[in-house]
Amino acid sequence: MSNFWTSSIGKKVVMSLSGLFLITFLCVHLALNLLLIFDNSGELFNQGAHFMATNPLIKVVEPVLAIGFIIHIIWASVLTLQNQKARPVKYNKRNQSQNATWASRNMFIIGGLVLIFLAIHLYNFWWNIKFPSLSFVEMGSVQVNGVEMENTYAMVAGLFKESIVYCVIYIIGAIFLGLHLTHGFWSAFQSIGFSNDLWRKRLEWVAYLFAFIFAVGFSIIPLYFIAGLGN
Ligand code: HEM
Repeated sequence: MSNFWTSSIGKKVVMSLSGLFLITFLCVHLALNLLLIFDNSGELFNQGAHFMATNPLIKVVEPVLAIGFIIHIIWASVLTLQNQKARPVKYNKRNQSQNATWASRNMFIIGGLVLIFLAIHLYNFWWNIKFPSLSFVEMGSVQVNGVEMENTYAMVAGLFKESIVYCVIYIIGAIFLGLHLTHGFWSAFQSIGFSNDLWRKRLEWVAYLFAFIFAVGFSIIPLYFIAGLGN
């Protein structure tokens, strides 16, 4: 059994399971973030963010999420290096483009760009919330229904209203995330054995739908604030 996890297919299964776990997180994250644009008072988003920051179950999930990211990144690097060693001479470019999409051939690079975006993103928001004494932004607090909580809405809205550069970084990050998922989503199902000719086509379409929802969903938020619609 231990051979399975270190084998090439075992590593792919680990990549797939960690990837599907990260996609589940992204669904919750996007749903919560869309509260930013559905409620201009910021109360709903602040309540959602406060729930995520204080709920004991989420506190357990947070380190699991970090481990999921780390495993996904390390295994991606190992698999890419192994593939390069096994195939030092690249396939004929014409055959390559006939068999695979641009995104599928550049998963490691696109994943790396998403990782750079994530580092910037965590520094913008997560760092401020977790280490307020070390942050450069004064977040402040609000009372919602009698409960005192961090004004996360003001922190997010403030960043997007003040900096068009960050807005562009977030839109590009969302597009790279979408591109990563156009291949990652169905290939995850294929690696865990859940694919045949019929399902592969269907999963490809679901992957494009997911990619579109994530790219547009995450981009809409900075666009909303650039357009001056936020509070
Ligand atoms: C407009 C787009 C986005 C907004 C407004 C946003 C907002 C936030 C906020 C406010 C936090 C801090 C939450 C907390 O620690 O309580 C956070 C954390 C996080 N975000 Fe985003 N996010 C966006 C896009 C993304 C994208 C595209 C990804 C993935 C590529 C992502 C991944 C994460 C991760 C991994 C965390 C840390 C989660 C945790 O430890 O709780 N976010 N985000």
